[in-house]
Amino acid sequence: MPIQIVRNDITKMECDAIVNAANPTLLGGGGVDGAIHKAAGSGLLRECRTLGGCNTGEAKITGAYKLPCRYVIHTVGPIWKNGCDREEEKLRSCYRNSLILAKEHDCETVAFPLISSGVYGYPKEEALYVAVSEISRFLLENEMTVYIVVYDKSAYRISKKLVRDIAEYIDEHYVETHQILRSAQFFNRPVEKCAKGSMSAPMESEASLNELVGQVDESFTQMLLRKIDEKGITDAQCYKKANVDRKLFSKIRNNINYKPRKATAIALAISLELDLAEASDLLQKAGYALSHSSKFDIIVEYFISKREYDIFTINEALFEFDQPLLG
Ligand code: APR
Repeated sequence: MPIQIVRNDITKMECDAIVNAANPTLLGGGGVDGAIHKAAGSGLLRECRTLGGCNTGEAKITGAYKLPCRYVIHTVGPIWKNGCDREEEKLRSCYRNSLILAKEHDCETVAFPLISSGVYGYPKEEALYVAVSEISRFLLENEMTVYIVVYDKSAYRISKKLVRDIAEYIDEHYVETHQILRSAQFFNRPVEKCAKGSMSAPMESEASLNELVGQVDESFTQMLLRKIDEKGITDAQCYKKANVDRKLFSKIRNNINYKPRKATAIALAISLELDLAEASDLLQKAGYALSHSSKFDIIVEYFISKREYDIFTINEALFEFDQPLLG
């Protein structure tokens, strides 16, 4: 997964490089700057003293000393002035220049905090959007795994309506499953005899019998590649939108019987913008189903049923409900 959003303390990240949200003096401060200097020890400050400061939007690299990584990349984000001082452009250059430095030092994994979203006042949701879009742009041309380390949930502020809608959807479906399980136990009957209708979505597209028979032996990989062709997209467009690593996609493509992880299979179904029936069909070919006894699955089903396929929005919702992220 080329870009991952994780909740952690960046000083604990065991990457090739972590990025520090510094100030122009590079001599330490509060927030993530203070945490990194504290965890790295005095050697970091001694080296920073030799750098002669750093301009906003630029980046400089040092050793990592006692931190569990190889490098610290120091960058200075813009102070938020209500968007009147080219803040987005400066923030984007922080990510771009840090990534260029990481690449020049052969880093394969890099962790960013949400630059400028603390003391410097950049609205967190917007700061996260800029981070994801600028890092994604770099990853279109470069192979690297980038972590965005979100320290607190306030960075994600999906609309309260969306949270309410999803919570209602979970209650409606999640409770239903437990009622089914309880009635099955109570009446000692197989669950499928109690379920109201099938768990899987009704087939929206009534495929012809021949077509269905033709697909019965189709593997996950075969269906995936068929759908890529049908959608008229490239492999790269599919796996990048799914936030799936190129190497992993190659393994899937080159092994007709490959069985990916469930989150990967779901991410690919979403990148292909499959409807619920097709997504369930693709998942079944990897041995999975969207289960109503899993909040993760119900949230994914919510978005597919609403035909909302933006992985970033779905991950925001999964994050809000303390579920693992897609990709
Ligand atoms: N790990 C990950 N993220 C963290 C950590 C941590 N240990 N500590 C704080 N953060 C998050 C904050 O929640 C915020 O979302 O990092 C983001 C950036 O916040 P700041 O550290 O305040 O950085 P910034 O907003 O860029 O302000 C920079 O603050 O610390 C001073 O010297 C620094 O003057 C500079 C200014």
